[in-house]
Amino acid sequence: MAGPAPAAHENWSSRLAFMFAAIGSAVGLGNIWKFPYEAGEGGGGAFVLIYLAFVFGIGVPVMIAELSLGRRGKMSPPNAVRSVAKQEGRSNLWSIAGWSGVIGAFLVLSFYSVIAGLTLSYMVDSFSGSIDTLDASNSADYFGSITGNFPLLLLWHAIFMGLTIAVVARGIHGGLEKAVTWLMPALFAILILLVSYAMAVGDAASTFKFLFQPDFSKVTLETVIQALGQAFFSLSLALGSIMAYGAYVPKDVSLPKSAFIIAGADTAVAILAGLAIFPIVFHYGLEPGAGPGLVFITLPVAFAQMPGGILVGGAFFLLLAIAALTSAISLLEPIVAWLEEHRGINRVKSAIGGGIAIFILGIGSVLSFNYWADVTFLRGTVLDNLDFLTNNIIMPLGGLLVAVFVGWRMKRISIRDELAPKSEFGFALWLFMLRYVCPLALGLIFMGFAFRGLL
Ligand code: PFF
Repeated sequence: MAGPAPAAHENWSSRLAFMFAAIGSAVGLGNIWKFPYEAGEGGGGAFVLIYLAFVFGIGVPVMIAELSLGRRGKMSPPNAVRSVAKQEGRSNLWSIAGWSGVIGAFLVLSFYSVIAGLTLSYMVDSFSGSIDTLDASNSADYFGSITGNFPLLLLWHAIFMGLTIAVVARGIHGGLEKAVTWLMPALFAILILLVSYAMAVGDAASTFKFLFQPDFSKVTLETVIQALGQAFFSLSLALGSIMAYGAYVPKDVSLPKSAFIIAGADTAVAILAGLAIFPIVFHYGLEPGAGPGLVFITLPVAFAQMPGGILVGGAFFLLLAIAALTSAISLLEPIVAWLEEHRGINRVKSAIGGGIAIFILGIGSVLSFNYWADVTFLRGTVLDNLDFLTNNIIMPLGGLLVAVFVGWRMKRISIRDELAPKSEFGFALWLFMLRYVCPLALGLIFMGFAFRGLL
């Protein structure tokens, strides 16, 4: 057989281990940092409703397709898609659907790690009590003093990438599984504690009204596109992670059922994050639509005022850091799996080499906060450009290719073999969404890109 020799990757040791890992990938900065502020900007409940429709109508069908491709190909995304394309008698070029994921993961992890480093910095400063004096007048300045401090931001970026490398280098059983088995229960425990605390001391009534009472007047085409992009990002789609994790799933695990559980858990965490954050924001009379600064600038003001704020604030940033780490390992994994297969480099060397390359690229994003803050081209700073390129081009393109390949180019019999559908109606509905609705919606992100390009 031509092409790369199949490398023997480990399988997940149980269905539960796979679920923890996949939910760990999905639950990340996207849920706790991004979702609440995007909901805050996009009309609260209206954004939440549109988001839910995208998660289950578009995200879940694409996730099932990605998991199927991964498991059928049994290799890193580019080689998995190439192998399935070969089995189906299709062109090698379809491997672009896997390549876009690996390249996207590389780019996204470079800046994801910088933001994750920032959460580590805030966590340490919260627990040590040094930000317990912040108030509305100086919180933004404090944020500026941290992000403006190049060596400090670089150090935290290095520490976070170091942690990510250390996990991935240990392999599926010794690294990824072990990490998620400890970290995911911890994440859920901290989240539940924070929600209970926020509900008890904060303004729960305003929060429910804000998150669940839709205000459609704030919804624009931009909001809709943002909700779709957020659904994809939050479910870890089109960046290689879910496909790579799919390659390690034992044959007897139901992929459609898994996809629904992953999406359900991911959405639950996003909403719970809202229920942990907004009661406090409203109780202290702060601004819910503060944008990216909601978590780093607005919330610390509340933590500083509340009794026990040192612990609550510290726990909140610990939660963010854990969520970020279990996502970051899923971004490094497809790259490492590919290096192992293609170059025959062992896992430890692949993880270190790949991780260092990502760290170096991330320096551009660290600089975007300080020395290069004024160096702008195309869409803004280096960080803005990486964010735009991955969110608006690579992600929709990758998702589109996966949907078209699985929906239109794979034989029904192969898909049935992989999914073992229990309900004919469910299977038909999934195929319909994948063939018609997903390509259309992903095309919409492109149109949004063209639309914004004109402005
Ligand atoms: N889903 C993660 C989050 O919400 O933060 C981010 C992510 C991880 C995106 C892995 C894509 C990915 F492949």
